[in-house]
Amino acid sequence: MNLTNKTALISGGAEGIGLSIAKALGEQGMNIVLGDIDEAQLALADQALTELKIPCLSVPMDVTKPEDWQTLCQAAIDRFDKVHMIVNNAGVSGAPGPIERTSHQDWRWVTDVNLMGVLYGMEAAVPLIKQHGEGGWVINVASMAGMAGIPYAGAYTATKVAVVGMSESWHVELAKHNIHVSVLCPAFVQTRIHLSHRNRQAEYKLETSVQEENKGKKNAAQELVENGIPVDLVGKRVIEALAAGELYIFTHPSHRQSIAARFKAIDDAFARAAQSPLLQDIVDDPILSFD
Ligand SMILES: NC(=O)c1ccc[n+]([C@@H]2O[C@H](COP(=O)([O-])OP(=O)(O)OC[C@H]3O[C@@H](n4cnc5c(N)ncnc54)[C@H](O)[C@@H]3O)[C@@H](O)[C@H]2O)c1
Repeated sequence: MNLTNKTALISGGAEGIGLSIAKALGEQGMNIVLGDIDEAQLALADQALTELKIPCLSVPMDVTKPEDWQTLCQAAIDRFDKVHMIVNNAGVSGAPGPIERTSHQDWRWVTDVNLMGVLYGMEAAVPLIKQHGEGGWVINVASMAGMAGIPYAGAYTATKVAVVGMSESWHVELAKHNIHVSVLCPAFVQTRIHLSHRNRQAEYKLETSVQEENKGKKNAAQELVENGIPVDLVGKRVIEALAAGELYIFTHPSHRQSIAARFKAIDDAFARAAQSPLLQDIVDDPILSFD
């Protein structure tokens, strides 16, 4: 894996996991293009990378706007000539709560940033990576929530399961172009994800009644995030997993057993389906392959 002098686009790269990955890729000799909605943090991140002598460019952008992705890509080409990697990292947590009390505005916000933002990033960057024929990488940041549903976080879970599924599709689809797709699935990491509302765009503002209801509520995620793993570990782990050519990148081995229990529950359900008198004629049907 030779990353030297190659160029990576990183959404949500102004802080947290995105900046951790930016530093780790920069240490491998990559040029870094950061995109983020928070201009003040972006300036600090740019300064931090420059002090580390990492060639970098930062572009204010909102991942929910396809035209912002075009601006980011054009800036990257103008400065570094080619794009080899996209890290779709920008994400928001939404407000946790039971089904009937999760606002549609929140669903739209979380879906537009965490899911559509990844799609728009792929639409803009993948043609550029294909274009030079040197191959490249896609790293989509999902979550452990993409491996098993989290109660009271339906919207967040839906987007992260989707990002895992999209990554699996694209892993097969892009392999013939020598583009390797990975999906990063961390559990809790020490970042400001529990304060995601700081980046909520005006068009997704919560209705006044929901704002009132949320006022003074304890932020349930805060303690979990504060007890998470140090953020610098994540970037380093990504480099290790990229070198190993992994599709799924995990950072929390302690979660292995709970995910294994989920797979067992699914496998057990298959076993029961295979025993069903209704399905005996199709038990050995051939599996369709799309590739
Ligand atoms: N921290 C955790 O415990 C954890 C666990 C699993 C997955 N993740 C995922 O990691 C990713 C990064 O989160 P983090 O923990 O570093 O959080 P963070 O809040 O520290 O960083 C998120 C970054 O994304 C940016 N951002 C938010 N909305 C944006 C938008 N519309 N357009 C562009 N940039 C935007 C923010 O300004 C910020 O720089 C997210 O996808 C998150 O879901 C985090």
